[in-house]
Amino acid sequence: MRFPETGSPPTKDTDLITTARLDLVPLSAVHAEEMATVLSSPALHTFTGGEPLTPDALRTRYERLVAGSAGPVAEIAWAVGAPWQGRGLATEAAKGLVSWLGEHPVPTIVAHIHPDHRASAAVATAVGLTPTEQWQDGEIRWQRATRP
Ligand SMILES: CC(C)(COP(=O)(O)OP(=O)(O)OC[C@H]1O[C@@H](n2cnc3c(N)ncnc32)[C@H](O)[C@@H]1OP(=O)(O)O)[C@@H](O)C(=O)NCCC(=O)NCCS
Repeated sequence: MRFPETGSPPTKDTDLITTARLDLVPLSAVHAEEMATVLSSPALHTFTGGEPLTPDALRTRYERLVAGSAGPVAEIAWAVGAPWQGRGLATEAAKGLVSWLGEHPVPTIVAHIHPDHRASAAVATAVGLTPTEQWQDGEIRWQRATRP
């Protein structure tokens, strides 16, 4: 995600998902340094565990995520830097992403959310995901079909 006031340029214009306030760009290891600052608040880990990653550790994580998986399921997640929270940005970004996924051959969208994480559950609900009976590592699996 690129914030208007701080963002770095997108990888290529064709990869952009544009919403009213945001340009969503594909994850890239080159974002690691900037994102390590954006995600530096320990409070971001209240429900997910762990701690803020260093730029090097984030780069390694992004390289692994960018490699992707061959599965037909899109696992989505959201994190907004502490200073930018409470503005509807996670909801806006998630709506843009889910809408984009609806134009691609991905039948199912899933997210895993801690049962007490009301903000994250609200984002998931806003994009049409519903909680299932399945749990993974203390989190509830939410999902929806890409198209109704
Ligand atoms: C979850 C997170 C991404 C939400 O980001 P955000 O940009 O503040 O979210 P939004 O402004 O779009 O708000 C989404 C909803 O959560 C609600 N919300 C926001 N902060 C909240 C809080 N602290 N407690 C309860 N609800 C909250 C909003 O009111 C909104 O609900 P509504 O649509 O019913 O009004 C952000 O809190 C975050 O990055 N947390 C740390 C990372 C994380 O835990 N990610 C989730 C992994 S599953």
